[in-house]
Amino acid sequence: MPDLHVLVTGGAGYIGTHTLVAMLAAGQRPLVLDDFSNGSREAVRRVERLCGAEIPLVEGDIRSPGLVESVLAASAARGAPVEAVLHLAGSKAVGESVADPLKYYDNNVGGSVALLRAMREAGVARLVFSSSATVYGEPQYLPFTEAHPLAPTNPYGRTKLMVEEILRDVCAADPAFSAVTLRYFNPIGAHRSGQIGESPRDTPNNLFPFITQVAVGRQPFLRVFGDDYDTADGTGVRDYLHVMDLAQGHVRALAYSEGHPGFVAVNLGTGQGTSVLELVRAFERVNGCRIPLQPQPRRPGDIERMWADPALAASLLGWRSTHGVDAMCADGWRWQQGNPQGYEPEAGT
Ligand code: WQD
Repeated sequence: MPDLHVLVTGGAGYIGTHTLVAMLAAGQRPLVLDDFSNGSREAVRRVERLCGAEIPLVEGDIRSPGLVESVLAASAARGAPVEAVLHLAGSKAVGESVADPLKYYDNNVGGSVALLRAMREAGVARLVFSSSATVYGEPQYLPFTEAHPLAPTNPYGRTKLMVEEILRDVCAADPAFSAVTLRYFNPIGAHRSGQIGESPRDTPNNLFPFITQVAVGRQPFLRVFGDDYDTADGTGVRDYLHVMDLAQGHVRALAYSEGHPGFVAVNLGTGQGTSVLELVRAFERVNGCRIPLQPQPRRPGDIERMWADPALAASLLGWRSTHGVDAMCADGWRWQQGNPQGYEPEAGT
């Protein structure tokens, strides 16, 4: 599907920039719209250099009245009509969503409605949506299949589920509309070049970027939230997947959306569970470093253990994860070691 022009909202972020690399390699033509609230212009520039490609980049908020409409119109006017949208833009911190739910409902739900209205006006009827395994809530069984009940336990997860429901309704109202929802498990690591990676603005909430910041000396130790779970070593278990595998999942979903109207939700995970301590030990072994640990009480709201059943992604999208935990650790460290402060903030930002 060469020359598929795709609007990528949030394309300057961690998942977005890695997905741009995979899209370009597949001959897809991304156009990025990002408000840089959690993304970086520098990161997109690095993708351009890495791939030897130009990526049109518009700064803005998808909620700005008329903005998406104008971006779609301009793309059509220059003979590159957008045929599909990859919707990654959104706020993603669970703790922040508990403290400030209205920010999450406005940005994640309101933003998606604004985007979908602009798409309808422009006649764009293919959407790939960034959802999350957080929509499942407490496991009633494992591994999670897409048929597992949906019961998110925090406002962030509820925004993801609400957008999924909106997409089901849009597809019911417009039989020509295609909505492929990707339920991410835990993406970590970086492109093997070390040129792009995860660059949290503040102290990381998530495990892996915290580990890499300890390793590079930005944090003194890793707090381990809970060592009394009913798991092999007492620490929380997650399904960590390499961010480049996740990126490839988007490429496959975009290809699948052609000729497949209707709503479908697909897990993107490896099918393997890894505990906090197992990930730490792998990181230390692969990178020859030590991560000092500080045991802490459980983090409120944390799920004890979760991992994906990735069978539908394989059968529907022809997608499987290809990287193991060691590669995630090696690639994530290469990025952090070469960029101890992440992407330097741009002058004036
Ligand atoms: C993983 C494990 C923690 C930090 C997050 C987002 C969620 C989704 C996936 C977007 C848990 C433990 C963590 C630390 C620790 N992102 N931990 N010390 O909670 O599965 O989900 O990523 O969709 O929205 O919340 O990932 O990396 O925060 O935690 O011990 O400093 O690591 O208790 O067991 P989580 P996480």
